[in-house]
Amino acid sequence: MKTNAEELFKEFREHSVSEFFRKNAAMLGYTGKIRSLTTIIHEGVTNAIDAAEEAGVLPKIFVAIKRVKEESEHFKVVIEDNASGIPEEYIPNVFGKMLAGTKLHRHMQSRGQQGIGVSGSVMFGQITSGRPATVITSTGNGEIIRADVMIDVDRNEGKVMNAEKLEGKWRGTRVEVEVKDVTYMRSRYGPFNYLRMTAIANPHVHITFVEPDGTLTILEHATDEVPERPKPMPLHPWGIMSDDLLVLAKHTKGRTVTSFLSTELSRVSKRKAEEVLKLSEVNANKKPAKLTWEEAEHIVSAFKQVKLMAPPTAGLRPIGAADIENGLRQILRPEFTYAVTRPPKVYRGGLPFIVEAGIAYGGGAGKTVEGKGEGEEIEAEAGMELLRFANRAPLIFDQGGCAITSAARNIEWRRYGVDVSTAPLTLFVNVVSAYVPYTSAGKQSIAEEPEIFDEIRSTIMDVARELKRFLNQKIRIKERHERAGVFEQYLPVIARKAASLAGTKQPDIKPLLKKVTGDKHDEES
Ligand SMILES: Nc1ncnc2c1ncn2[C@@H]1O[C@H](COP(=O)(O)OP(=O)(O)OP(=O)(O)O)[C@@H](O)[C@H]1O
Ligand SMILES: [Mg+2]
Repeated sequence: MKTNAEELFKEFREHSVSEFFRKNAAMLGYTGKIRSLTTIIHEGVTNAIDAAEEAGVLPKIFVAIKRVKEESEHFKVVIEDNASGIPEEYIPNVFGKMLAGTKLHRHMQSRGQQGIGVSGSVMFGQITSGRPATVITSTGNGEIIRADVMIDVDRNEGKVMNAEKLEGKWRGTRVEVEVKDVTYMRSRYGPFNYLRMTAIANPHVHITFVEPDGTLTILEHATDEVPERPKPMPLHPWGIMSDDLLVLAKHTKGRTVTSFLSTELSRVSKRKAEEVLKLSEVNANKKPAKLTWEEAEHIVSAFKQVKLMAPPTAGLRPIGAADIENGLRQILRPEFTYAVTRPPKVYRGGLPFIVEAGIAYGGGAGKTVEGKGEGEEIEAEAGMELLRFANRAPLIFDQGGCAITSAARNIEWRRYGVDVSTAPLTLFVNVVSAYVPYTSAGKQSIAEEPEIFDEIRSTIMDVARELKRFLNQKIRIKERHERAGVFEQYLPVIARKAASLAGTKQPDIKPLLKKVTGDKHDEES
C-alpha cells in the first residue's frame, strides 16, 4: 500500500542548531580520540587570547589536562585566562548557545569567527561525560561568579546551575570541561604540539601547561607588547554577492538603500551609492529590507562598473617578520631563521588578506613531534615540518585540503637546495584576514582561493630564496674549512721535511698557515 504525503509528513520536525551539532560533532572537529581533545584546547585557547588582546593585556593562559580516573579515558580540561571576564547575564549564551558571540557580525580579524567554538566544547563534554562545564569568571562589576552550564539542546539555550559568588580579587575566565572517550598523547596532533605552535605564532603569549601525568611546561612570552587591535573592516562591494547584500540589508540601521550602501560597505560614499543605484535602476529611497533578489543582482553588477577605491587594508594585523623570527628562535633554537610579511592583497575582488612566512633551519627545526605517551620526550624525525596558521591560530588537522599545504607542495624545493625529506627545516605560514575562507566549521584548513594560493606560494618562495643563500654560504664555509684542514695537516710536515733535506733550520710556518686558513678564522669570529 502506498503512503500519502500527509501521512509521511507527520514525521516532519524542526531541529535546533544545537541538535544538529550534537549529532554532527565531527563537523566541529570532534572526531578521533586525540583530535577531540586538541579541539577543546584550540577553542579555549583561541577565545582566551582573543579576549586578553581585546582587554589590552598580555595574554597569560593556563591549560591543564587532568585524568579524572586513573587508567581511564575520562579527563578534565581546564583553560584559564587573564582577560576581563564575562558579564553574568551573558554566561548562558557564551557557553550554552551555539552561533552566538561578539565576533561573527563585526568584520574584524580575530581567531574566532563563528560563535560556536566554546559552546561546541561544552556540548562535546556533555554528550561524552554527561557533566556540565564549570565556569569561573570576573563579571566586570568587581564580582567573581562560579557556575555550572549545560546546553538545552532542544532550545539551543544555556542552563546555568549552582551559580555562586566567590570572594577575592581576580580577573579572567576559567572554563573546566569534563570529557570521556578521548586520549592524551604528545603527538603532532595532540595538545602539546598545538600549544607549542601557538607560542611560536604568538610571542606575546605566556602559556603554562600541565599534562595529565603532572609534567609542567612553561612557554615563556618572547615580547612584552600587546599587538595593536585589528580594526573593523566592512565588506567592500567587489567582494560581495547578491545574497551577502540582502543579508546586510536585513540587519542594517540605514533607512534608505542609499544610506544602507554608504554605511555598511567600505569605500562607498553617499554620492557613489547614488551613482550605483541610478545605474542599477533601483529606487534610492527604498527601505533596504524591501530589496528584491533582482535588485540586489543589479546593484552588485553596477558596483563593477563604477570607479571605487580598493578596499582598505589598514585594519589587518599580521605578526610581523621580526616577531615570527623571534617566535621560531625562542622555540626551535635554529641555526638560521628568516621571515617576511608581504603587503596586503585582495581575493574575490574585495576581501583583503595578508600572507606571512618564516623559515627555520637546523637546531630543533624539522623535528616533527611523534612522541608516544604522556610527558615523553619528543621524538626527533628529520624532514620538513609545515606549520600552518590562520590569524595566528594553529591549523593542525585537515592539512590535505588546505591552500597552505598545496602551495608548499607546489614549490620545487630542490631548486632551493633543499631535500624536503631530510632537511632539518620548519616552514611557517600565517594567513591573516577578517574573512578567512575556511573549508569547514572545524576551521582547520583554508580554501584554495586562487589569489590566496598564489600569494602563499610567492611568500614561501621569498623565504626559500633566503634559505638558499644561507645554505650556499654554509657549503662555501665547509669547503674552505676542508681546504684549510688539508693545509693545517700537511704544511708542517712539508716544512719539516724540506728543512731537513735542505739542511736548514725549520722555518716558522705560522704566518703562512694564517694566510691560507685566515678566512676560516675570520668567519668563525
Ligand atoms: N575567555 C573568554 N573571555 C571573554 N569572552 C569570551 C571568552 N570566551 C568566549 N567569550 C565570548 O563568547 C563568545 C562565544 O565564543 P565562541 O568560542 O563560542 O565563539 P567565537 O570565539 O566568537 O567564534 P568561533 O566559533 O569561531 O570560536 C565570543 O564571541 C566572546 O564574546
Ligand atoms: Mg571561539
